[in-house]
Amino acid sequence: MKLYKSIVSALCLAGMMVSCGTSTTQQSVEAAAASVAEIDTGKVVIETIMARRSVRQYKARPVGRDTVQMLLECGINAPNGMNKQPWAVRVIDNPDYINGVTEVFKQVNPKMAADPGFKNMFRNAPTVIFVANDPVASSSPVDCGLLGENIMIAAKALGLGTCCLGSSAAFIQNTPQAAEYLEKLDLPKGYKLLFCIAVGYPDESPAAKDRDTSKAKFID
Ligand SMILES: Cc1cc2nc3c(=O)[nH]c(=O)nc-3n(C[C@H](O)[C@H](O)[C@H](O)COP(=O)(O)O)c2cc1C
Repeated sequence: MKLYKSIVSALCLAGMMVSCGTSTTQQSVEAAAASVAEIDTGKVVIETIMARRSVRQYKARPVGRDTVQMLLECGINAPNGMNKQPWAVRVIDNPDYINGVTEVFKQVNPKMAADPGFKNMFRNAPTVIFVANDPVASSSPVDCGLLGENIMIAAKALGLGTCCLGSSAAFIQNTPQAAEYLEKLDLPKGYKLLFCIAVGYPDESPAAKDRDTSKAKFID
């Protein structure tokens, strides 16, 4: 909140410099305008981060592959230990795969599938991004987490909803009946599915869940 307030104050100051004629030269007006633009961009990024929520209901509308490609590029540009990139990312938008593995899920978890809102095991999303890590690289769970967050923030910026799903990935990784679907992901030898990301056009706008601000503090 403090950071947000400083940004807004800086924005107002820059705006005043331009409007009150404090900047006498064209150059300083341009510099002020550039810093306003920079602050505006920063504000949009922060608002996007703060507005992201896990979405668990999606419209049937498919997500274009160009859009998903953009998400993947944002993902793989995440910081990662020694740039080892110890991840394998797979996109599934094929309804045969999604519905097929969901049938297996329904047989194993009949109670969960009985929910009238249940359409598929990925919170009803039309596209799923699977993220696997190389357990040999000790930083890989952190690296994959950062990749996932980049994808989810980029998706939010593009009007898409997402939900990080640990349970769906664990199901595919650990359920013998789902082995053929794990194999179809064509992961490198030794890699393990860590989580997947449901992606789609949101059909709900969930409120933010409470956050415990005392978990993050300054130490003097
Ligand atoms: C590693 C991880 C695993 C998660 N697994 C699931 C899951 O299996 N099912 C689900 O509905 N949500 C899952 N979530 C979403 C969390 O429940 C959600 O992020 C959390 O409740 C905070 O809500 P928000 O994302 O709307 O801020 C997972 C999130 C993370 C980071």
